Amino acid sequence: MSELKISNRLSEKLLEARRIVFFTGAGISAESGIATFRGDGGIWNKFKPEELANFSAFMKNPDLVWEWYQYRRQIVYDTQPNAAHYAITEFEKFYTVTVVTQNVDNLHTRAGNTTVHELHGNIEKNYCISCKKRFDYQQFESGGGSPKCTCGGLIRPDIVWFGEYLPQEAFTAAEEAAKNCDILFSIGTSGVVYPAAGIPMLAHRMKRYTVEINVNSTEMSYIFDENYTGKAGQILPDILEFVKKNK
Ligand code: OAD
Repeated sequence: MSELKISNRLSEKLLEARRIVFFTGAGISAESGIATFRGDGGIWNKFKPEELANFSAFMKNPDLVWEWYQYRRQIVYDTQPNAAHYAITEFEKFYTVTVVTQNVDNLHTRAGNTTVHELHGNIEKNYCISCKKRFDYQQFESGGGSPKCTCGGLIRPDIVWFGEYLPQEAFTAAEEAAKNCDILFSIGTSGVVYPAAGIPMLAHRMKRYTVEINVNSTEMSYIFDENYTGKAGQILPDILEFVKKNK
């Protein structure tokens, strides 16, 4: 039995809608056991981004940065998508669904979504900084320091570090989806990191129906047509339940 009170406006929109964008951040994976970046227990409270998540840090100390990503990779391998990821997958039975994620944990793809634009890269992918050869989904032994390509170049994670550009193709596709959707849900993101946070802003400017789902209010809560406060793993299955019964 659904406990969530879905507003009349959102109910109507869900019944009419054909294209839905789910814009997600670290909060959607919190219930899988992956720490968020900010707030209580946030990664950036314990580690400094400038020491780990940028190219010059990697060049200065490749072993340290590589092992940090090995550690985070292990967390991702050991975890599973949660009820929120699986609910988004099920929305595909009713809508054209585009997932735009800032997460690098690959959990939307593992849950089974077909269109996933990764704005900040993917921790399971790597490439050589010299010859650009790809080492996607290849597992590397931990403790061995940063691996080298056959060309001698360093292999780095395919993650967007501070000061780097977002992957152009993914960002353009995300913008197109935001402009053309009927509803955009922004889920589990603090909305403070740009240009990614510009995606829900764009949907709002284009007068798309926008809904935020978060355990707290955020710096961009005010832009949304509606805000649902609570855990993504509870709210999304409730919204899906409504769709299953009524669409
Ligand atoms: P943040 O850690 O900044 O924000 C996580 C958000 O999730 C917060 O607003 C929480 O209130 C919310 N939250 C936590 N648990 C939740 C739950 N169970 N259900 C719903 N909401 C929940 O993470 P992001 O916004 O994703 O970039 O951070 C954006 C970027 O900052 C990341 O992609 C990363 C980081 O630096 C790069 O690494 C390039």
